[in-house]
Amino acid sequence: MELIDGNKIAADIIAELKAEVATLPGRRPCIALVRVGEDPASISYVAKKQKTSAEIGIESRLIFPPVTITQDELFALIDGLNADAGVDGILVQSPLPKHLNEVAVFRRIAAHKDVDGFHTMNLGKLAQEDATGFVACTPAGIMELLQRSGVKLSGQHVVVLGRSLIVGKPAALLALQRQPWANATVTVCHSQTANLPAFTRQADILIAAIGKPEFVTAAMVKPGVVVIDVGVNRVPDATKKSGYRLTGDVHFPSVSPLCSKITPVPGGVGPMTVALLMKNTVKARRQNALPGPV
Ligand code: GUN
Repeated sequence: MELIDGNKIAADIIAELKAEVATLPGRRPCIALVRVGEDPASISYVAKKQKTSAEIGIESRLIFPPVTITQDELFALIDGLNADAGVDGILVQSPLPKHLNEVAVFRRIAAHKDVDGFHTMNLGKLAQEDATGFVACTPAGIMELLQRSGVKLSGQHVVVLGRSLIVGKPAALLALQRQPWANATVTVCHSQTANLPAFTRQADILIAAIGKPEFVTAAMVKPGVVVIDVGVNRVPDATKKSGYRLTGDVHFPSVSPLCSKITPVPGGVGPMTVALLMKNTVKARRQNALPGPV
């Protein structure tokens, strides 16, 4: 069993981006980071995005509206960022408070600044295999992890657990692409799938993105499988100072001995998401600096 080191691979991408940004003409790329309210996980994710931006030479603008912001007020905030020629990318941290319509908010972001890849236009471009679009950072990060770890998808059976807009659906679309790094046969499973283990046991590559701690057990995988664990679950743990520990969607102690490769949690997919957000922001800067629609 080999561990896929997301920290190392993300650091490589960040170093590549830093070198690239240094060669860009004109102003630095700029990302607006919008965090609504004070959710502790969101605070830590956005802080990480800000820190990594600074490391690369990407400017970040932080906007922290209160949890009481209305949908119209948030739309107005986004409209301002859309119109601001000094902003290349806009990220609204998910999850949003319940009174806000997340999909409507994602759609409000101008498609050419949608570095999260959640806008209708960018999801459409992903389905159409149009490389000018932005691909959601977590699934794009998963593909980079696999590629840079030497895992070939072509002709392999990729089973995706989860059908979310943020991970499951775009991951499935990416693995399907007519590209040398993709070309997989893809099955998507979810909460309503009957006889789930019958599918997961067929996986050459299993992508677990369901948000259920340690859901995938040894009986659900075949020997030699490559496992990508997207889960970031906080489970209570009295032995930790924080009062919790992080665990993935995979029961690592029993599953990992069966794997040819597996990502740990933390230190697997997590760092890649930030790296790919930065990559999308540099792409936005390049594309937005060009005349005409993209
Ligand atoms: N919350 C969890 N993952 C993501 C992500 O990739 N983008 C945003 N905006 N919010 C998230």
